Amino acid sequence: MSARPTVVVTRRLPDPVEQELARDFDARLNTDDRPLGPDGLREALKSADGLLCTVTDKLTAEVLSAEPLRARILANFGVGFNHIDTEAAKARGLAVSNTPDVLTDATADTAMTLLLMVARRTGEGERHLRSGQWTGWRPTHMLGTHVSGKTLGLVGMGRIARAVAQRAHHGFGMKVIFHDPYPPPADVAASLGAEPRARLEQVLKEADFVSLHCPATPETRHLMNKERLSLMRADAYLINTARGDVVDEAALVEALTARKIAGAGLDVYEKEPQVTPALLMMENVVLLPHLGSATRETRVAMGMRALENLRLFFKGSPLRDRVV
Ligand code: DGY
Repeated sequence: MSARPTVVVTRRLPDPVEQELARDFDARLNTDDRPLGPDGLREALKSADGLLCTVTDKLTAEVLSAEPLRARILANFGVGFNHIDTEAAKARGLAVSNTPDVLTDATADTAMTLLLMVARRTGEGERHLRSGQWTGWRPTHMLGTHVSGKTLGLVGMGRIARAVAQRAHHGFGMKVIFHDPYPPPADVAASLGAEPRARLEQVLKEADFVSLHCPATPETRHLMNKERLSLMRADAYLINTARGDVVDEAALVEALTARKIAGAGLDVYEKEPQVTPALLMMENVVLLPHLGSATRETRVAMGMRALENLRLFFKGSPLRDRVV
């Protein structure tokens, strides 16, 4: 029997990460890249010392009740860990870690991509050209919305929101306002040209673009519900690179259909990989398949960070990114 800890890796990871995992652990790689599902996860918890898991693994209290439990750590690949019942993990003595910092820039870039795409109608434009409908340049063709000088409203002002503010204010000349119950120090906000608002509602009323950057918690579930969407301006756009269930997708469809808001740019959905069918039909909505952190560099860095957490844990050292 190998003395190295056994680690079940729930999805395919970039090659350099899998190579290091195989070198340092008795690593059970998922070469087929099929989600393990509840039964596979329960089996992994019973047969391995640790799991390197990710956002597609629903580690519910039920799954975590697997007996006899052998695993001692869930090293999450990703910064968000709302797919893990952390209370249940804690109760079962499982450590949980995540991979913050390394995906900040990539995710902020995705938020800006969505913002620019909805403002400048680029998804619609590409579909128009590829379908052979483009008849040539004309002064009134497919006019979008200017971004420079407009107001970006950030909901949450953590690492990713700050990186978005940096890009939007210093790169695109946008005015930035934000609401966060735990705001950054005033000098940090000022260096990003970002002005705090005491209430979320103020951000929603003032912003031309509202971008969501809060974690998914029971408190933020459906934060953007019918009432809050109705506070947004009719010419404003909603951007979501956070988590799908921060937005009530049915209420969003209603607001878009009734033209209560101008459009949306979404990277995350309430029931991934399902997307509410009405959204697929709307030209003023840009839809990405949860690509927030999807650059080669970032995904390797995320894998290496999860690996570092596993190494530290099995060495008995304090975890760098312990969340439980
Ligand atoms: C994260 O880390 O939360 C990302 O959304 C996963 O891709």
